[in-house]
Amino acid sequence: MPDQVTINEVGPRDGLQSQNRILPVSGRLQLIRALEAAGLSRIEAGSFVSPKAVPAMAETDVLLHSLEQTERNGRASYSFLIPNTRGYELAREAGAESVTMVVYASETMARRNARMGMADAELAACQIIDLARADGIEVIVIVAVSFRCPFEGAVDPAVVHKIAARFVDAGIHRLVLADTIGAADPAQVSALLGALAREHGPGVLGCHFHDTRAMALANVYAALDAGVRWFDSSIGGLGGCPFAPGASGNVATEDVVVMLRQMGMETGIDTGALLAASDLATELTGTAPGGRVREWLRGQVGS
Ligand code: COA
Ligand code: ZN
Repeated sequence: MPDQVTINEVGPRDGLQSQNRILPVSGRLQLIRALEAAGLSRIEAGSFVSPKAVPAMAETDVLLHSLEQTERNGRASYSFLIPNTRGYELAREAGAESVTMVVYASETMARRNARMGMADAELAACQIIDLARADGIEVIVIVAVSFRCPFEGAVDPAVVHKIAARFVDAGIHRLVLADTIGAADPAQVSALLGALAREHGPGVLGCHFHDTRAMALANVYAALDAGVRWFDSSIGGLGGCPFAPGASGNVATEDVVVMLRQMGMETGIDTGALLAASDLATELTGTAPGGRVREWLRGQVGS
């Protein structure tokens, strides 16, 4: 049996949230359907955030209803990013089955992104976990700036360990360590994820890498080596947080999938259909760079 790896496709959220071109719900839906057709089983489909703060994520409730009411191309489960309890309420009202709550490894990043401190974001996350348990909603917790903060610089791993212990003990579905600005290197990833995996087991962990310094794929490998089997990635390498200066695109789903497949690991993703989704992402946004492997992949699929 090959090793199974879960790819959590974040293009429809992280990828679209900071684009100049704001897609209508129909375009966001079309992209999600193309990703499902490629076999992606987990998709972060949008966020319940203030439409004034992130106009590209407005009408995520309408998107969720459209996802339920139109024909599916596969059997993906969708999660929705939330920054606070209001986001949780909106997600629940819209019928979300999974939410991804953001907490922070730096005080300034918390205030810039959510307009509350680290402690308040963690408190909100704990309250959301309790509510979600009663509501039967899955909770993923993502730790923003787990490696480096654009405002405060290096992050002390002890801060991340403390957050990890608090939330793993709270019984969440997954704890995702995010390199929000793409500043981590493989040695750092190896040290942090190795230690977290020894403490909590790798099964509850996930990683979210951006490719600002061209180390995202190397970081995926370092995390794999530590036992991590859940990776956030974005179709076409789209991505970036509007509130974290210097953040560029996420690691491209294409690149991660091709690397894993070549190493004999199983993702359940069809690379031909993935290429079609990547081309659609470029067509819709006008900017998706397509990862490093897209042109090589085009030759393989065409031959
Ligand atoms: N979804 C939608 N609207 C929300 C909301 C949410 N999760 N949380 C708050 N709001 C609305 C309020 O209803 C209020 O609306 P109004 O101005 O029409 O009355 C407005 O936002 C401000 O409310 P307030 O409670 O003062 O919010 P805040 O200032 O404490 O927080 C955030 C603002 C965090 C909600 C907002 O900055 C935000 O959504 N940021 C997006 C973060 C993000 O997506 N980052 C990128 C991904 S990590
Ligand atoms: Zn991100």
